[in-house]
Amino acid sequence: MSKFNTLDDVNLSGKRVLVRVDLNVPMGENSEGVIVVTDTTRMKRITNTIDEISDQGGKVILLAHFGRPKGEVVPEMSLARIVSTLAKVVAKPITFGTNCIGPMAEAAVSAMNNGDILLLENTRFHAGEEKNDEYFAKALAANADVFVSDAFSTSHRAHASTVGLATILPAYAGRTMQSEQEALESGLGQPQHPVAALVGGAKVSSKLELLKNLVEKVDVLIIGGGMANTFLAAQGHDVGKSLCEHDLAGTAMEILEASKKAGCAIVLPDDCVVAKEFAANAHFEITKAEEVPSDGMILDAGPETIEKIVKWISKSRTLVWNGPLGAFEIAPFDRATVEVAKIAAAQTKAGKLVSVAGGGDTVAALNHAGVADDFTYISTAGGAFLEWMEGKELPGVAVLVK
Ligand code: 3PG
Ligand code: MG
Repeated sequence: MSKFNTLDDVNLSGKRVLVRVDLNVPMGENSEGVIVVTDTTRMKRITNTIDEISDQGGKVILLAHFGRPKGEVVPEMSLARIVSTLAKVVAKPITFGTNCIGPMAEAAVSAMNNGDILLLENTRFHAGEEKNDEYFAKALAANADVFVSDAFSTSHRAHASTVGLATILPAYAGRTMQSEQEALESGLGQPQHPVAALVGGAKVSSKLELLKNLVEKVDVLIIGGGMANTFLAAQGHDVGKSLCEHDLAGTAMEILEASKKAGCAIVLPDDCVVAKEFAANAHFEITKAEEVPSDGMILDAGPETIEKIVKWISKSRTLVWNGPLGAFEIAPFDRATVEVAKIAAAQTKAGKLVSVAGGGDTVAALNHAGVADDFTYISTAGGAFLEWMEGKELPGVAVLVK
């Protein structure tokens, strides 16, 4: 029995169904210099829910945010930019409504036939969204009979379209919401030790709480990516021109102290791949972590560090991964991420490791390494995955619990 009402509990035929999805997908230039969606994982994950509602004869009204426009209409953050990609992924026609509330939305919904799919414009173009404003939520609800929440990856935000709507309309969990929850509970609810956590990505500041909590729960914390530089700098190393949050040195030291007390091993880079510019195939050198030149930038973990990480992962039974180890988007600075991903995938395939990864960049990195399918589970969630790992209640999930 699911703790939510799900699509199993409702007949949506002929109903106007507002479906909150996460279409906050990464964009980048393709080889012709055109800005395109660079990873469609989040789109693929919501197709089951969309198909199921549409096949039943429900009118699928998709609601989503895109970027952080902070209540303003920002053309670069219009969902119009991604609707054609979404239609391709879903393999069904999708129309677009230029506002998620008001006469525009009403007209777009009125024009729908049973089974049709409509995507409404970015909810965050309205200030009421992030404030979980009651009137904004009511304006969204005005065009619908039922609410389906399928954006687990946005469920850490108590916004009108993730929480407010569920208090106004009859609310159900979509298939992605359901499966993300189930997979995380079964993979990580009671993990087998040793547990390794690999946390990378650019900033420590966005993951401070996570790191503090993780050292209490895991046996080894592997720190990579830009955030490792903050730790290196805190330990007194010159990190040159590398990405680094110098003002967080104190916090970094506190995390290291806490890990000692908790008996959690910490892995930081011993050697680094350093270049003078952040560009594909830039000239690079490998230096010890304490010998980074003052005009150099750390762009990846070095070979000794990779070896050390691989050893830890080989000893572990569970791996939780969020954030790449280096600037994996550009070669050759993807090496640590790719090598470690391959080992984790191989250990998983051999039945020796439960591997769970989450986060937009992480999913893109594992796709890039070609091993995403070999992980035990890949969550489409970034922030929500981290907050779930921290043991926090996710408001967008809590509001759905029966
Ligand atoms: C994400 O991309 O992590 C989610 O869509 C939430 O986006 P946000 O961090 O801008 O709230
Ligand atoms: Mg985010």
